[in-house]
Amino acid sequence: MTEVEKNLVYSRSQIEEKVRHLAEQLSREYAESTPVLVGVLNGVFMFYSDLVKALSIPVLVEFVRLASYGASAESSGRISLTKDVEIELGGRDVVIVEDIADSGLTLAYLRDHLMKKGAKSVKICVLIDKIERRHVEVPLDFVGFEAERGFLVGYGLDFNEQYRYLPEIYCLRMA
Ligand code: IMP
Ligand code: MG
Repeated sequence: MTEVEKNLVYSRSQIEEKVRHLAEQLSREYAESTPVLVGVLNGVFMFYSDLVKALSIPVLVEFVRLASYGASAESSGRISLTKDVEIELGGRDVVIVEDIADSGLTLAYLRDHLMKKGAKSVKICVLIDKIERRHVEVPLDFVGFEAERGFLVGYGLDFNEQYRYLPEIYCLRMA
């Protein structure tokens, strides 16, 4: 059995500060409209809740769930939607809220999917951007942390469904 070591990367207070900053940006950008915030389950659950509580504007709450085949640490590129939005998006401002952007495939797929529903605009808000691993061009409009290499867990992020419950973000190291 391999021993798993985890090192703290972002503390509770660092996360709180980033979330507050993102909420200020969104509140300013959407001061004149009521955007639909589309959260990507399951990873986004903690970030989404903290973000919405820090906003000073009204929003509509919505979620999608996507499956990328395989339980590996790398996105397979084969994405399917297992839970779609239920709110009518025609003519509305939409913000995708996602925990982490890695290859960018998930976000590119979802952005395209939501645009096809007739949204007035679709922007993307991510807590963490793993810059180095981007495979497809996708505009990230609101970014919290820019991360270097490593696999991150906690604050919603999982490794094979483990560690999501942790309130801080750690980097996994297979020792
Ligand atoms: P992408 O399609 O490659 O950008 O993958 C994005 C998805 O992969 C995210 O929604 C996460 O669920 C997952 N993912 C990518 N990197 C990590 C990580 O470091 N920790 C946990 N999940 C990750
Ligand atoms: Mg995710």
